[in-house]
Amino acid sequence: MSHLNNKLLDIALVFLVYFATHSHSEVLSTRSRWIVDAKSGQRVKLACVNWPGHLHAMIPEGLQKKPVKDIAASVASMGFNCVRLTWATYMFTKDSSVNLTAAQSLDRWNLTAAKAGVAANNPQLLDLDIVDVQKAVIDELGAQNLMVVLDNHVSLPKWCCDNDDGNGFFGDKYFDPKEWVQGLTMVAKRYKGNPTLKEAFHLHVAKGLVTKLGAPVVAMSLRNELRGPRQNENDWYQYIQEGATAIHGESPDLLVIVSGLIFDTNLSFLRNRPMASNFNKKLVYEAHWYPFNDPPAKWLHQTNEFCANTTSWFMSQSGFLLSGKNPVPLFLSEFGKDQSDAKEDQNRYFSCLLAYLAETDIDWSLWTLQGSYMLREGQIDQEETFGMLDFSWDHLRNPTVREMLKFTQKMNQDPQSKHPTSYVMYHPQSGRCVEAGNENLTATGSQNCSRWRYSKHGNRIKLLGTSGCLTAVGDGLPAVVSNHCSSQKSKWRIVSSSKLHVTAKDDQGRDLCLELNSSNPTLVTKKCLCLGDDLKDAPSCEENPQRQWFKFVPTRA
Ligand SMILES: *[C@@H]1O[C@H](CO)[C@@H](O)[C@H](O)[C@H]1NC(C)=O
Ligand SMILES: *[C@@H]1O[C@H](CO)[C@@H](O)[C@H](O)[C@H]1NC(C)=O
Ligand SMILES: *[C@@H]1O[C@H](CO)[C@@H](O)[C@H](O)[C@H]1NC(C)=O
Ligand SMILES: *[C@@H]1O[C@H](CO)[C@@H](O)[C@H](O)[C@H]1NC(C)=O
Ligand SMILES: *[C@@H]1O[C@H](CO)[C@@H](O)[C@H](O)[C@H]1NC(C)=O
Ligand SMILES: *[C@@H]1O[C@H](CO)[C@@H](O)[C@H](O)[C@H]1NC(C)=O
Ligand SMILES: *[C@@H]1O[C@H](CO)[C@@H](O)[C@H](O)[C@H]1NC(C)=O
Repeated sequence: MSHLNNKLLDIALVFLVYFATHSHSEVLSTRSRWIVDAKSGQRVKLACVNWPGHLHAMIPEGLQKKPVKDIAASVASMGFNCVRLTWATYMFTKDSSVNLTAAQSLDRWNLTAAKAGVAANNPQLLDLDIVDVQKAVIDELGAQNLMVVLDNHVSLPKWCCDNDDGNGFFGDKYFDPKEWVQGLTMVAKRYKGNPTLKEAFHLHVAKGLVTKLGAPVVAMSLRNELRGPRQNENDWYQYIQEGATAIHGESPDLLVIVSGLIFDTNLSFLRNRPMASNFNKKLVYEAHWYPFNDPPAKWLHQTNEFCANTTSWFMSQSGFLLSGKNPVPLFLSEFGKDQSDAKEDQNRYFSCLLAYLAETDIDWSLWTLQGSYMLREGQIDQEETFGMLDFSWDHLRNPTVREMLKFTQKMNQDPQSKHPTSYVMYHPQSGRCVEAGNENLTATGSQNCSRWRYSKHGNRIKLLGTSGCLTAVGDGLPAVVSNHCSSQKSKWRIVSSSKLHVTAKDDQGRDLCLELNSSNPTLVTKKCLCLGDDLKDAPSCEENPQRQWFKFVPTRA
């Protein structure tokens, strides 16, 4: 017995040291438009990926395909620091769910193959209650230093979201506001705060596990994509207030994330009527941005103008919250594209969105992680082409997308930095940035970005710390950094309706645009593409102008 106690003590000490040095027990709050560490005030940028656990069986997807450890490890290896894990209210509020084991839940839906898959990949989870499966997943994410945002996605567990699916707005068939508040409260309680070391230790030892354990849940979002015929502002203010107050009352450490109307695309009413709350330092808003309602032809033939329009639409509906008198953080909690690259309009949308994401450096969560679903809309083992992982959950579906995300996974603006703002030249189509190497300019990745000063006055683009300027040489030739700063070939204007083309005039007075061909790292200048796609007499362009898109991204780090 005493031998065992000593052994436990040893483990406890190891655990204590490990916990103190490694654990990710972040408590976050907000300051102006930034999410910050509550203690140090340092900015913490959320770069998350969505992981659904809200469908029929109420078990996070993928546990039938891979061990939870491996899934968490692949999230981390893709550079995300956080997961937006979705859940359904009924999981906590319905008697038929609370003591349901994973095995029983899968049986209820006749998911025989999924059950066998969970048994093979995660045998330790199969006989746990579904609420404990969720906990085990969260613990594993925490153990791998990932933060978790818990998103209340639906009431009745199923695929989301239709206007008339009964899950859309307060008072809909399945969406009882009281039950919703009850569910939020239970979840907030369940994951609140730091368990004391002792409790955590005992809990883990009791379960036969000795792993690192933090308090990975840093935020809860109130409800995904409010929508449907019932939606209205007055009810929104009333119920959002109730839900937010319930979470905050139960667990004051958590960030509370608030979504808007019309599928989380409209928060514009906050302009005239801010939400009253006495916990402003915990309030974050969220928005979604998808291309599903966009006519593909607009992305394909008026890429510049449509990007400009869509971006200003997003800013007017949600993005405005980041600026003005009382800026608040905005979490772009869903966006994404078909990663099979089959849809060129979605590729265009994605680059356009990345330009905005890079420039604003907002917090975000990509839709999505999962390569497949156990059961979605009646289909068993359905593939998800928006997923980072492939159907087998083994490999990246599209390594290029992972490369494209790298730049925006970094924190590019540190509000505490004492350095002045400089600019990085970001190429959203590739996700790369311009590097001033030896002689000419290249873009090979997202790490070695050169810093520039762009002064509208004189239109020079100066390489920081040198006297050199970005200079065009000629059509089809590499751009260079030269000392000919007063040459007209060093005089750059930002043009087109997208404001993403960077152009200078050659010796004959013709416009040349910076261009990056992604199969070739050297930055060149070429004839400008699709500048006039906003003009009535030239309403469409057959080219893809995005290889000429560059965003001057403000950077302070
Ligand atoms: C769930 O199980 C607990 C513990 O066995 C029990 O006290 C509780 O009544 C059960 N709840 C339901 C709804 O079956
Ligand atoms: C599961 O299978 C049984 C027996 O074939 C059937 O009666 C039941 O309706 C099925 N349940 C679902 C949710 O498909
Ligand atoms: C967004 O909401 C505001 C206020 O409720 C409304 O006036 C506006 O029409 C909405 N915008 C869209 C695109 O639906
Ligand atoms: C962009 O918005 C303007 C102003 O609302 C509109 O006239 C134009 O047709 C839009 N362009 C596209 C490509 O949708
Ligand atoms: C960045 O530049 C350094 C030094 O030039 C080089 O060693 C490193 O490989 C580069 N990293 C990337 C990701 O390109
Ligand atoms: C650098 O750019 C100059 C001018 O465009 C070009 O002549 C030269 O070949 C380039 N050098 C390399 C290494 O690409
Ligand atoms: C990009 O570079 C590749 C390889 O050098 C070339 O085959 C292709 O035509 C180039 N594309 C454009 C649009 O210039």
